[in-house]
Amino acid sequence: MKIFHVSAECYPAAKVGGLADVVGSLPKYLNRLGHHTAVVLPHYAMPFFEENAFEKTYEGILQLGGFEFSFEVLKEQTNQLGFELYTIAITELFDRPKIYAYEDDTERFLSFQIAFLNWITATKQKPDIIHCHDHHTALIPFMAQNCLAYNSLKNTSTILTIHSAQYQGAFGAEKITYIPEFDETKSGLLEWNGMINPLASAVKCAWKITTVSPSYLDEIIGYASGLENLLRWEREKSVGILNGIDTEVWNPASDPMIHYNYNTSSFELGKNKNKEFLCEQFNLNSENPLFVFIGRFVPEKGADLLTEACSTALSQNAGEINILIIGSGDTDVERSIQGLKNFYFGNYNFHIGYNEKLSHLAYAAADFLLMPSRVEPCGLNQMYALKYGTIPIVRRIGGLKDTVLDMGDGGFGICH
Ligand code: GLC
Repeated sequence: MKIFHVSAECYPAAKVGGLADVVGSLPKYLNRLGHHTAVVLPHYAMPFFEENAFEKTYEGILQLGGFEFSFEVLKEQTNQLGFELYTIAITELFDRPKIYAYEDDTERFLSFQIAFLNWITATKQKPDIIHCHDHHTALIPFMAQNCLAYNSLKNTSTILTIHSAQYQGAFGAEKITYIPEFDETKSGLLEWNGMINPLASAVKCAWKITTVSPSYLDEIIGYASGLENLLRWEREKSVGILNGIDTEVWNPASDPMIHYNYNTSSFELGKNKNKEFLCEQFNLNSENPLFVFIGRFVPEKGADLLTEACSTALSQNAGEINILIIGSGDTDVERSIQGLKNFYFGNYNFHIGYNEKLSHLAYAAADFLLMPSRVEPCGLNQMYALKYGTIPIVRRIGGLKDTVLDMGDGGFGICH
């Protein structure tokens, strides 16, 4: 089958979270199963795009209400990722160093989706499946089915994978003119709670909905997303499929990003060597058990709970444990994470920012991984931890519930 994955993130080109890891590896394995899978991503001003060769394969114009943008479709030349990577360059909107968090994100991602549909219609491509990920690409199912310009895609199967139902990309109804011409009687397919809601629209229009773990599907049908009634209504076409991890990238026996490779028989030595190496860099005592947190500082991940929890644990076990926090996000959380260092110097440290290499090393070096997530659609970190012999301490929710078996039940994690 010919499958297009359309996404805002794809590792290693552009990553904020686990969405990138999934979109950066699933297509490779689909290709090995005999499918023809490509990923389509916006062309950002980020290192991967500058360091790799891309060739222009198409250029066109897109209309966003009264605005007009020219765009180019570029193809990464080497297929180094194990699949074809196409990027859509819309200079005014995406020639920027970050993926999200701009005021015009609605305009940016809607333009990206329109450019994608313009391109495949103009070049008469007939994918068997268009696979969309999260709200940034969630208007594609509606547009493919209903916009006059995309009539040739009317019967193309579409899938939406929900990696996070917290973010739905809703915007005001006055921007309905952004969407290429369609039969107005269909506008209800865009609407949820008085707004145009891309995620809700895809739940209505996509042929299939998947969530990244079975438990998360139950959770968002039951509560917590604002889309409960809609998801309940569309339950029949929805399925929870647990993410996997790419063990060609995440394998302590071959991982080039860690200090010392190890396998199940050299496990103790390997973990100790990595721990000594990491502890030295962060001025921690490698004799102590090492707890790490790796992730985004957002409420879903429970990052705001860390400061108090760390300070209690470090006070109660004075000098006997180490904690290392790696991540970035909410500035108040960043500040309080930084502030703790003054009180627990030598047993506590942090790295503010996203650093792939350091994360790999931390999984290899740590004894425990902390995941106090309030919401966790799947979670990959606990699976990386298990692969590296690190005990995940998690909340019993979403994908964590589906992947971490508590030690008390014969597993290798701690699940509360
Ligand atoms: C999002 C979710 C996370 C999931 C990842 C990949 O980042 O928060 O739970 O593992 O997407 O699906």
